[in-house]
Amino acid sequence: MSIPTTRTNAPANVSIDSAKCSGCGQCVSVCKDFGLEIVDNKVVVSNKALFGCIACGHCMMVCPTGVIAVEGRTLSPVQLFELPDKSQVPSYESLLAMLQRRRSIREFKDVPVKKEIVDKILEAAQTAPTGLPPSDVHVLVLENRKQVRSFAEDFSGYLKGVRWMSSNLLLALARPFMGKANNEMMHDFVKPVFDIYVDDMDKGNNWINYDAPVAMYFYGSPYSDPADPIIAATYAMLAGEALGLGTCMLGAMHPFIQHGKKARLFRERWGIKYASREGLVVIFGYSNVHYRQGVKRTFADIHRVN
Ligand SMILES: Cc1cc2nc3c(=O)[nH]c(=O)nc-3n(C[C@H](O)[C@H](O)[C@H](O)COP(=O)(O)O)c2cc1C
Ligand code: SF4
Ligand code: SF4
Repeated sequence: MSIPTTRTNAPANVSIDSAKCSGCGQCVSVCKDFGLEIVDNKVVVSNKALFGCIACGHCMMVCPTGVIAVEGRTLSPVQLFELPDKSQVPSYESLLAMLQRRRSIREFKDVPVKKEIVDKILEAAQTAPTGLPPSDVHVLVLENRKQVRSFAEDFSGYLKGVRWMSSNLLLALARPFMGKANNEMMHDFVKPVFDIYVDDMDKGNNWINYDAPVAMYFYGSPYSDPADPIIAATYAMLAGEALGLGTCMLGAMHPFIQHGKKARLFRERWGIKYASREGLVVIFGYSNVHYRQGVKRTFADIHRVN
């Protein structure tokens, strides 16, 4: 038994050097697959595992004597590393300061983002939690303005071919099946987006991805948790901020390129391997705008149960 992903569909193997196991039980308590148990003061692989080892690695990471090895599902003990010192972790105040200073940036200096910076963003984004390991997040990286522009032009051309979807007649006909919120969204958001993405691109204005120096499209697979690419994109955005870049999330492209033959052909042209429920583009570059103040944002609702 195991949980399939596009990378692997086999459970991992767990081996224990029993002679050196102290029987402390820490690995047992962190394994939420219930795949380990203590027998005669030593840990053993149990036959009560829920899924078969998912290779989260928690048992290896917690073991004080280093006697557990997990191999498989893309994990191996060679991937273990020493934790950075606690003194290197940002304080709440410095994290909050970075979050408060962040703005969605859509105006960029004509300065390229170096490959090392792109690598750092990707390194940080890969630390993101996922529904289940191994990550089934895929990333398309566009590393210069030419590629970013070319992606936007192709997307705009693709939209032209499916523009009938936003026609007034179709929206009126579809209204009874869509529900009020969807219909309002189509009229007030999707239709104007079609207009500006297609008509303005023809005039040379790229409001799709703003000719950013770097763009990354995070998407999942039919197996991944829909939230996974969104969380990875958020980590990438925060890493970009920490590296002094301006960033902006762009949600408008993903839904358009999921369904139909033309969408599939678009995905194939750009090496996008899967349609997926959720996906997000993040753009990066050196900001050409300076915000002097922030605004306090609030959730729609925070309901605390007494
Ligand atoms: C999921 C998501 C999707 C977004 N999609 C777009 C987009 O397609 N185009 C765009 O210009 N901005 C997009 N944004 C940026 C928002 O418009 C922006 O966050 C909002 O205007 C508030 O500005 P702030 O981020 O500076 O607080 C998106 C943001 C998020 C979180
Ligand atoms: S890797 Fe995770 S699932 Fe596998 S035995 Fe260790 S804690 Fe359990
Ligand atoms: S954490 Fe390590 S030492 Fe402790 S029971 Fe598990 S394998 Fe043995």
